[in-house]
Amino acid sequence: QPIRLADYTPPPFLVEGVALTFRLAPRATRVTSRIRFRRNPDAQAQDLRLDGEGLRLISATIDGVPITAQPDATGLTLPGGDLPDAFDWAAEVEIAPEENTALEGLYMSNGMYCTQCEAEGFRKITFYPDRPDVMAPFTVRVESELPVLLSNGNPSAQGDGWAEWDDPWPKPAYLFALVAGDLVAHSDAFATASGRAVALNVWVRPGDEGRCAYAMDSLKRSMRWDEEAYGREYDLDVFNIVAVDDFNMGAMENKGLNVFNSKYVLASSETATDADFDNIERIVAHEYFHNWTGNRITCRDWFQLCLKEGLTVFRDQQFSADMRSAAVKRIEDVLSLRARQFREDQGPLAHPVRPDSYHEINNFYTATVYEKGAEIIRMLRTLVGEDGYDAGVRLYFDRHDGQACTIEDWLAVFAEATGRDLSQFARWYAQAGTPRLRVTEDWDEGTGRFTLTLEQSTPPTPGQPDKAPQVIPVAVGLLGPAGDEIMATRVIEMTDTRHSLTIEGMPARPVPSILRGFSAPVVVEHAVTPERRAFLMAHDTDPFSRWEAGRGLAREILVAMVRDGAAPGPDYLDALAVTLSDERLDPAFRALCLRAPSEDDIAQALVDAGETPDPMAIHTARERFQRAIAAHMDDGLARAFIAMETPGPYSPDARDAGRRALRLAALAYLSRNDGGDRAARLFAGADNMTEQMGALGALLQVGAGQSEVARFHRQWAHDRLVVDKWFAVQVALAAPESAVETARSLTRHPDFDWKNPNRFRSVLGALATNAAGFHAPGGAGYALLADWLIQLDPVNPQTAARLSTAFETWRRYDPARQGAMRAALERIRATPDLSRDLSEMTARMLG
Ligand code: ARG
Ligand code: ZN
Repeated sequence: QPIRLADYTPPPFLVEGVALTFRLAPRATRVTSRIRFRRNPDAQAQDLRLDGEGLRLISATIDGVPITAQPDATGLTLPGGDLPDAFDWAAEVEIAPEENTALEGLYMSNGMYCTQCEAEGFRKITFYPDRPDVMAPFTVRVESELPVLLSNGNPSAQGDGWAEWDDPWPKPAYLFALVAGDLVAHSDAFATASGRAVALNVWVRPGDEGRCAYAMDSLKRSMRWDEEAYGREYDLDVFNIVAVDDFNMGAMENKGLNVFNSKYVLASSETATDADFDNIERIVAHEYFHNWTGNRITCRDWFQLCLKEGLTVFRDQQFSADMRSAAVKRIEDVLSLRARQFREDQGPLAHPVRPDSYHEINNFYTATVYEKGAEIIRMLRTLVGEDGYDAGVRLYFDRHDGQACTIEDWLAVFAEATGRDLSQFARWYAQAGTPRLRVTEDWDEGTGRFTLTLEQSTPPTPGQPDKAPQVIPVAVGLLGPAGDEIMATRVIEMTDTRHSLTIEGMPARPVPSILRGFSAPVVVEHAVTPERRAFLMAHDTDPFSRWEAGRGLAREILVAMVRDGAAPGPDYLDALAVTLSDERLDPAFRALCLRAPSEDDIAQALVDAGETPDPMAIHTARERFQRAIAAHMDDGLARAFIAMETPGPYSPDARDAGRRALRLAALAYLSRNDGGDRAARLFAGADNMTEQMGALGALLQVGAGQSEVARFHRQWAHDRLVVDKWFAVQVALAAPESAVETARSLTRHPDFDWKNPNRFRSVLGALATNAAGFHAPGGAGYALLADWLIQLDPVNPQTAARLSTAFETWRRYDPARQGAMRAALERIRATPDLSRDLSEMTARMLG
């Protein structure tokens, strides 16, 4: 039976305080809990359910009186009628962190204890009402011989073999954390705006302390930024970050004790790429920002996940835009939205940003909840304006601090602060699917009247056949024939199915620039000539739209190339060459313009046009497209490759990273002309991982680089995170006909540790990104992935379920591929004792 939003009821008992003691041992950790319960005056009389999974109950008392509780598989029930209005529950349970391979609850990673409780992992630690609307202050005592013992809040006392922590801020159980290990700290300090001194630590394994500086610097900048942009200060005396090698996701915002996948903490110029540095900055900020949007104000129930995630992603996007180039950041965010969220929204896994039912909540930590959730906040800000947004946010913090809230609470503060009716806007949370925006133009030469007509429609998605019109902010500007801006950006607020905008008295036909800044997460359908796109690519004043014009052109050319083997025309190639060498443009922006749409983008474009994508034909067309660019622009590329060198010591800052991005984009094309000579030289001389990986990728893309692959492994065999890259690049860039064999043989490599999620993803996740390889005729890619998902599921269902999304596009393809993908999904579904995670995913995908 699914869990439904409509069935929500308030908790019958609230928790006034929790005291936990952990006596840590790998196979027999004892957890004692003392929980002060009080009847909830706002709830109906009900039994009290304590969640608990995989716990050996040693003893339990109510107000000191032993009880004989009989737990079932998911917890135990205390009959409500027998319970006093306030009472102390005390229990002792035993758990085995060493045997916990699912990496949820308390588990071990390289001899270190750590926890992951979001969403429902706390119930694997002790009996508790494990739901986010039960918030309580926690105290924790940890006993272990390990030298570093951490939990949430402030340290309160410590001695030989123990430490105590006190978290004064009421929190739901999913924000609980504990870490114990042989760790070293990279430490620093921060003074908040009001003068609180905060000790900052990034805890890592001995030997890694030299790779924490960037994470620490990102943390300090995040703390300052949240004070300046949102008026939010940190609220404890310490802030700890711990890097863990075995982690299912990116990172976790536990109160005062963030736990991170080590991939998003550890960085040095030799071992981390510019993209890694960028991710570290973004994720450190994201988790830090959760302290207010997520922790101080949390979610009433898991249907409201986007309340904290959409908002916090939007906040981390704003932060990155301030730290780096706002235009480049926006383009990157849109690329990721389209690659992940649009793809999800157009297939069987489409769901509303606020889902209304689920079987396993871990399956809903999706691009839709996170990234479309962030787009909704961005639209809201566009609609109510900066001042309205700030006023609404201030009201949200004032009114709801310390509460567990809903999307209704969030929208109400904006309605109140701005006097706007947001009831139609709320549809963005309820309706799945990507709206289509059809644009038509009308020009009356005689009167100089220009009319723009917009029509919206949202295609059906699972369980939602009919859609109502949404509020779509469409940012529009007009350019004159000479490329001058004749109407500055204005936002059309579309609420009906159809909307027209008429401008009178134009001296000549204007060129509209539509959806500037990507003002709404929609697909624009606007039939325009290639000349028009090239014009916008050269003249649009909005950097996003300028990039988008070139992108649209590239997509159309690629679709034509797939269809009938056409070749890119000189117009596009010349326009791209002009962009490449336009020194007024940020190198990072030029690098984005040079990047060809991915194979999956092209497949999406073909599906949009009502065609069946052929992954091999797409791959071949994209390869010819890139060769045509390389041939046409050889000189310009060679000049950029030299001009974009970054002399001096490596710096991860946006300026140097942008130059390297352009340099490496040029190198990838040049390798198609020089057979990889420049790339081989760069690989041999590179002193940083960005260039080393860039060079290796360029070589692999032209079928070279085998000796470099071997050298790379010899050089980096001791470094887990770099070895992950080594696995991934070989699979991701293998030729279509050898990708599956490459992946298969790498799963037999002695370094392939399939129980480590990063390593598993580096081979099987990378296979799914190699579209032509994964979809190679015969279905060997599907079978290999299915085999591994079946093997991983009993060990780590969360990661298995996540990677199963590789199959979500199955209905796009021809009957043979459909049949083979479906057979793989059915084989997974038929596996005995399949997890709830993977059962739900396969059921939804099969429909
Ligand atoms: N709240 C975390 C973040 O946004 C994600 C944790 C998700 N973990 C999970 N097992 N579902 O950074
Ligand atoms: Zn988050």
